[in-house]
Formats: sequence, structure tokens, C-alpha cells
Amino acid sequence: MFINAAQNNTVSDMNGKILFVDDEENILEIAIEFFQHKGYHVVTAKNGIEALKVLTKEKIICCFTDINMPEMDGLQLAEEIRKLDNTIPVIVMTGYPSLENSIRTLKNGVVDFLIKPVNLNQMEVCVKRVLRERRLFVKNILLSKEIEGKERLVRLNNELVYKLKELQILNKIMTDLSTISSTEDIFKLLVEITVELTHADESKFFVINDSENTPFEVASSISKTYRESPFPGTTGKSLKADNGLNLMIVDTVQDEIPLLVSENKNSGRGADKNLSVMIVPLKIQEKVFGVLTATVKQGVKRFSDKELYYLSFMTQKAASSIENLVLYEHINRGLMTTLKAFVKAIEVRDPYTQEHSNRVTEISTKIGKKTGCSDEEIDILKISGLLHDIGKIGIRDEILLKTGKLTKEEFEKIKEHPDIGADIIGQLGMWDEHQKIIRHHHERFDGSGYPAGLKGEETPHLARILSVADAYDAMASDRAYRKKLAPEIILNILKDCSGTQFDPKYVEAFLSLYMEGKIN
Ligand SMILES: [Fe+2]
Repeated sequence: MFINAAQNNTVSDMNGKILFVDDEENILEIAIEFFQHKGYHVVTAKNGIEALKVLTKEKIICCFTDINMPEMDGLQLAEEIRKLDNTIPVIVMTGYPSLENSIRTLKNGVVDFLIKPVNLNQMEVCVKRVLRERRLFVKNILLSKEIEGKERLVRLNNELVYKLKELQILNKIMTDLSTISSTEDIFKLLVEITVELTHADESKFFVINDSENTPFEVASSISKTYRESPFPGTTGKSLKADNGLNLMIVDTVQDEIPLLVSENKNSGRGADKNLSVMIVPLKIQEKVFGVLTATVKQGVKRFSDKELYYLSFMTQKAASSIENLVLYEHINRGLMTTLKAFVKAIEVRDPYTQEHSNRVTEISTKIGKKTGCSDEEIDILKISGLLHDIGKIGIRDEILLKTGKLTKEEFEKIKEHPDIGADIIGQLGMWDEHQKIIRHHHERFDGSGYPAGLKGEETPHLARILSVADAYDAMASDRAYRKKLAPEIILNILKDCSGTQFDPKYVEAFLSLYMEGKIN
């Protein structure tokens, strides 16, 4: 039977509308069709500015927004909505979840985070949930204005605290999953969160063998109490599921829906003992790829629907992350191979700069680590270091390889390489940060560098790091126009130019790494 979603909502919600904000017309059309069919009122906007206009005219109860949009991005929009009416839940949708975005989203009061491509059913589940929470929130605000109804207020407050806690758990899952940069880490994280979140004695992730439909363990975690119990788990001794669990897994894979056995009547003995069990399938492109299991093996603890919901939520998000990562790893690997080939092509043309990019990368990352850069920044440095001179591909041989002094015009040509390099990276539609570093690796701290003449901290800090590493390696290697310089001379030049050409902070870090023998 078709149930109109509006039946589940209150009168005030029925009059309100869901706002979708995306710069892609076809996404808006699909969302309108789906949600109108489900009985919701829907309005759309192509960007943040347009969305704010809609908000002043319409009664909006919930907003879905893309992150990357012209004029005003989704996170700025979320912030504006919060100022305007903090009861409107905002859900952001993005193709590339990053740690920075997750933190910004949480700060801006965004209540949920969906990874593109977004599944419409998943969106509807999200709408129902946020509207339920919004009603609770609005009720709470209304009640707090009245002195009477105290008891209700206490109850609602408790519910709200519980909801907030749940939201925190869900956000933690999202944040943890979005920091993962390789598919291998995801399974480990899933079992660890499961043990922490559900207080299971043991959690495992099994990949399902395609031909035989048999589960094969790829990650496991056991709780501290179970590890210290008289009959600890067998993790690590066998990669196959025990018999009882195996049967339940096979059923779950066939049914393709999460399984909760709160009180397991057919529990085995010893390590095979599973008093309470949850099994959640993880589907990749509509096919069961693996299952996440959680088991209670001792004591009185039993699993509930709520815990099954957490696990399903987490597995769903993990599946999107895996799909995105696989896609990203694939694109990224292909792209890096092409770009590395570019770099090799330049180095073959100019033997004097051979391996220069690799050495600059190595030195830059050492300075980065020494000066407290995050792992994400170090990754950016690794790619930018490797590609920093990629723009030299656009400089003619007679200038690039000239042994004599360059004329003014020729030097002007050489000065174009940071811009050319940044444009090459930009045309691939990726990596804003990397683009900035490559564009500005020849800026000087006193503002007399090129191409933009940026001064001091106007130059991105990773570009300031790269500039020290680049200069050191250039002086420490033979060039077409001169032999390499002696180490004492190079160190003196770096010291002399600290504060004029280079950021003193990074020269200092370089010198101390050098003294410690960490740079050769
Ligand atoms: Fe350069």
C-alpha cells in the first residue's frame, strides 16, 4: 500500500516545504519528482543566494544543499540559515568528503552529511529523521517559553539529550569514515567502532567469496573485557566464521537485510558462543560485498534495534566511502601516473634537474613534519613537490637548457612556469591547494618574487616550505650554468636570505634538520 509520507508529519510540517539547492538542474528535477510523488512540497534553488531569497518567501522545514556551488557555497548557506532560523535542519551533499569539510559542516550546525551520488531512498530516510528531530526541537523551544508543563519539558529534554547524543554518534561515524584515505583501513575502523559503540564482545568484517558465497574474515576487534575473560576469543587463529555465525551470515547474504538476534537460543559453546548477534550486509553497487558482525559472548548484555540502526547507518556510509575511494583511488592513480610521466619528460630533457622533484619532495615533507603540518598537508606537499616544476614543459629547450646567462626576455619566459604548471593541474579539475602551491613556489618573503609578488604570509605556507627545499636542492646540484655549491656556502646563503627570500621559520627548521644529519 502506498503511504503518503505527509501522513507521518504534523500539520505544521505539512504546510512547510523542503528546499533543494544544487547547481545541477537534473539533480533538482529528480529530487522534485521523487519527493512530490511521496507527498512532500518541494522548492528548489540553483545556488546559495537564490536559496536565501526562497527562504524569505516560503515556509521551509528542511534544506538539502550541495557544497560546491557558484555565488555562495553550501556551507556558507548553512551558516546563513542558522542565523535566520535555527530550527531548519540542513543536510549537505558532497562528492568528496574531506576532514576539513566535515569539521566546517559540524561548526555550521549541519545535521547530516550525505555522500554523492545520493540514493533517493536514503534521502527520504534522512528527511523523516531530521523532521522528527526538528519537531522535537521546536516543541522544546515552545515549551520552554511556558512555565507550566514542566514534566513534559523534562521528558522532552531527555529525549533531546538522547537525540543529540545519537547525532554525535552518527557524526562521529561520519567524521571517522571521512578521514579514511584507503579502502583497507575502512574494515578495521568498522569493527573498532562497532565494539566501542555497541559494547559487543567481538566484531568482525567478512568479505563474501563470490563463487562459493563463503565469508572470509578481513578485520576483527574484541572488547577489553572479553580479551581478559577466562575464555577469550579466537581472533587471529581462524579466518573463517564459526559454524553458528556462518549459517546466520549465509542467510543475511541471501536476504540482503540486516539481521538482529537479540537472544540467540541456538548458541554454541566456548568461542562459538554467540548469545546476541547482529549481522549487517555491506552492499557495493547493489551487490553484497561483505558483512559486519557483532556478537555478545558473555554476560547479560543483549543487542537492540537502536544498535542495529547504528550499524546499518555506519555500514551504509562505509559503502559510499568505499565506492568513492575506489573511484578516487582509480582516478588518482591514473592521474598521478600521467603527471609523473610529465615530470620524467622534463627531467629527461634537462638532465641537470633529474630527480630534483623527488629530492624537493623529500626535503619539503621533512620541513613540513618538523613544523607541525598535518598528515593532510604532508600529502599535499608530496604531490605538489613532485609536480612543482611541471610548467617547465611549456618552456622551449633553447631557454630551459641554455648554458649561458639568460636575457631579460628569456628570464621572463622562465618565470611563466609556475603559472603554466598551476594551469595544467587546474585543467584536471582537481586539487585547489596543490594548484596554489605550484603557482606560488617562486614567491619571495619580501614580496619581490614571481608570479604574483605575494608578501610574507600571503604566500600559502606549504609554498613557503617548498621554496626553501627547492632553493637548497638547486644549489646543491650541478646545473647547466654552474657546478653545485659547497655545503657551507649554501647554508650561509639560506641564512642570509632568511626574511628576504625565505620565511625565517622554515629556514630555521631546515637548518636544524641539516644539523641533525637528516638532510643529505
Ligand atoms: Fe620552479
